[in-house]
Amino acid sequence: MDLRHTPALPRRLKALAVLAALALPACSRSGSSKSPSPSPLATRDAGASARVPPGDIAAGIELTSTQPDPLLVRYLQDSTFRRAELEAALVNPGNLYSQDRLDHYETHRAGDWADIAEFNPRVAPIRGGELDAPGGARIASGLPADAAALVITPEMRAGVPAALVELGRQAFFRYPAQLVWHFEPGLRSRQTAAQYGFWVDPERDEVGGVIRTRSTEGVDAFAYTCATCHAWPIDGKLVIGLGNPRLDLGALTGQWMSENGQRPTPELAAWGPGRADVSTPEGRDPVRLPDLRSVRYLHHLHHNGTLSQLSVITLAIRLETLLVTGFGKGLRPPREAALGLALYLLTLRTEPGPTTEASARGAQLFAARCASCHRPPAGAGPAVSLDSVGTDAHLGHSAWRGTGKWRVPTLLGVALRQTLLHDGSLTSVEALMDPARTQPGYTGGVRPGPVPGHRFGLDLGPGERGDLVAYLRSL
Ligand code: HEC
Ligand code: HEC
Repeated sequence: MDLRHTPALPRRLKALAVLAALALPACSRSGSSKSPSPSPLATRDAGASARVPPGDIAAGIELTSTQPDPLLVRYLQDSTFRRAELEAALVNPGNLYSQDRLDHYETHRAGDWADIAEFNPRVAPIRGGELDAPGGARIASGLPADAAALVITPEMRAGVPAALVELGRQAFFRYPAQLVWHFEPGLRSRQTAAQYGFWVDPERDEVGGVIRTRSTEGVDAFAYTCATCHAWPIDGKLVIGLGNPRLDLGALTGQWMSENGQRPTPELAAWGPGRADVSTPEGRDPVRLPDLRSVRYLHHLHHNGTLSQLSVITLAIRLETLLVTGFGKGLRPPREAALGLALYLLTLRTEPGPTTEASARGAQLFAARCASCHRPPAGAGPAVSLDSVGTDAHLGHSAWRGTGKWRVPTLLGVALRQTLLHDGSLTSVEALMDPARTQPGYTGGVRPGPVPGHRFGLDLGPGERGDLVAYLRSL
């Protein structure tokens, strides 16, 4: 994500705006695509490859270990290694996402992102009670005295997994993923918070993972954290990692723009709840906020498979570079925080649903009809061509992230996901398995009209489709 989707900022903050900083290279390598073949993990000494066979990138990392892990040490200390891991992970070196990184990440040249200043500001969460005050939570209230930065210890710097996981746990709710000045319309009251999809968690006494912080120029700001987009309460309990289905950043930004004499763009208006565009300058490629609880099983990251997930290092580099672009390429996260977040994501878990006779029958059908793409252990698998699935292919051809493929999502915990498919067009596995969704006049989707594609299993009778749904709900 980056500041390109935030409305014009006060003049003195212009330095942070990405529009000015963004100088994209011409798309010279367009269309080329390579499939890196992951080599099996032989040994775990410092010289070993970071790659593990796809399946579970947590395999082989002792997350509770209090001894430095050689792989993590390499990421923290070895720039050449980081560069090699980036190159190996990029599926289509010709898209703009890849080019930006190839041009700036560990190039050993002037203008490299490694040379920009580290950002670890003091932050404080927005408390539920602030929404009840007249005018709600306001930036002008400033940073409270107990605001604190992430504490990065010698163990974290030394690549100790247990310490880094703990850092990631804190960073998920406390590290500013991007500074924002346009959240006030959403934080005026409990009602506006609900309207724009900021969860309120009484257990943590926090609102939407939103924090207060201060820019390097000393300007107070709000910021969102990973938890703003990747957490949502179910039955009153915050499920960490679940995509936020109600967060309506497009509408919120539009509201702020209207209040500040600007005209909201149609692109922003088209996002709707549960979606955001973290790649294009105009905001024209919104995708659903994904579920991170089983991210460790993904063969590819991003709905259109931008990165092969070769190891936890791919995840760390993805997060490190996300945060750099989120800060308008003027700041970068402590590398320990990016790595800690990646490791913390490996600790997230889903709860299986009930197994029944119907789900057992569904498992048989699934093996015959679905498992060629959705493979064990979690239902993820290698990316597949856009055509073979047939859902709206616009994003798959995007100059920004496109690879010509869809990644195959995991299915663990799918029953709890509130939005399905890359564009968040459906809200339940029942709807996905309902043949009526492909017909004109369908009204059961998130947006009006039919939801074409992914027709697998729709030719089966209602009983068998019910069995498949029962199986999906058991995962
Ligand atoms: C503004 C909302 C937003 C915030 C804040 C945010 N993300 Fe995301 N995240 C997204 C969206 C949207 C995608 C999907 C991108 C795509 O598929 O192209 C995504 C994708 C991901 C992925 C890849 C998952 C997958 O299924 O491919 C990971 C991992 C991730 N985010 C982790 C994080 C972490 C960790 C943070 C905090 C540093 C964070 N995100 C902050 C919106 C957000
Ligand atoms: C050709 C490969 C392929 C086959 C076969 C296949 N799927 Fe999928 N499945 C995908 C892809 C790719 C997506 C994501 C599509 C998108 O985001 O537009 C997906 C998405 C899903 C989702 C939504 C998950 C989410 O988080 O959005 C479910 C549920 C699902 N598939 C179940 C099934 C079932 C059940 C079957 C068999 C009846 C099946 N799939 C057969 C490739 C396949």
